[in-house]
Amino acid sequence: MLILKNITKIFNKDLTPDLKKVALNNINLTIDEGDFVTVIGSNGSGKSTFLNIIAGTYFADEGEITLAGHNITNLNEYKRAKYLGRVFQDPLVGTCKDLSLIENLYIASRKKYKKRLKWAFSKKTDSYFKELVTKLNLDLGNKLKQKVSVLSGGQRQAITLLMAIMEKPKLLLLDEHTAALDPKTSETVLTITNDLVTKEKITTIMITHNMKDALTYGNRLIMFKEGEIILDAKKEEKEQLTIFDLLKKFENVVD
Ligand SMILES: Nc1ncnc2c1ncn2[C@@H]1O[C@H](COP(=O)(O)OP(=O)(O)OP(=O)(O)O)[C@@H](O)[C@H]1O
Ligand SMILES: [Mg+2]
Repeated sequence: MLILKNITKIFNKDLTPDLKKVALNNINLTIDEGDFVTVIGSNGSGKSTFLNIIAGTYFADEGEITLAGHNITNLNEYKRAKYLGRVFQDPLVGTCKDLSLIENLYIASRKKYKKRLKWAFSKKTDSYFKELVTKLNLDLGNKLKQKVSVLSGGQRQAITLLMAIMEKPKLLLLDEHTAALDPKTSETVLTITNDLVTKEKITTIMITHNMKDALTYGNRLIMFKEGEIILDAKKEEKEQLTIFDLLKKFENVVD
């Protein structure tokens, strides 16, 4: 589904060597359709840059990116957006706070097919959305007409997630999307994430600082260190990993 070939990203390339920052150093990675990849690594190791390069927020300085068979290396962020779903750390950025919950859902459902008239407001779609949010079990079934600004952070992240996968993206990018939530709500949103992406078979990359979550969810785990991938554990290898193993790797990072 996603192929990164020799991807390098250098910030402040034209400044003095001490300000130059190699954020990603020659990354080679292939992610298969349906994979759920968790990504860990210390602060500044290149995780967000990795997602930003995939999303086209920045262009790579070197290398090639292929998504679902298309070479997207030179495609801008806006053009890539129709293939991608994204959820960020901040619950305030994914939804439009002055619109109601249902208006947000309508907007998300029309992102890709702007002219698709069947998504015009209708009773049938209203009840479909009601069913969708009720399934989240976050007491949202009767809040469809309320402004998103009155919802809690966890409720907003769950809605953002629904919106991000509404059009079945080729790839879902999650950058610490539960980090701003309390532990219990974080767990709820992660369970919802896992249920949705597994059921819809959406290829997903999820950055987290929580090692337990990185081990619990997904079928592949990647660790970044100084712009390079220093661990890539798939299926059985991932299942056998422990927090202790990851801590040991992290210690090497600090050394
Ligand atoms: N726009 C930018 N301009 C200059 N340097 C940047 C920019 N974005 C990131 N960097 C640098 O690139 C390196 C990687 O940053 P990145 O945000 O990818 O790290 P991260 O692994 O996501 O860290 P965190 O866990 O703190 O979110 C850091 O040294 C950072 O300071
Ligand atoms: Mg980051």
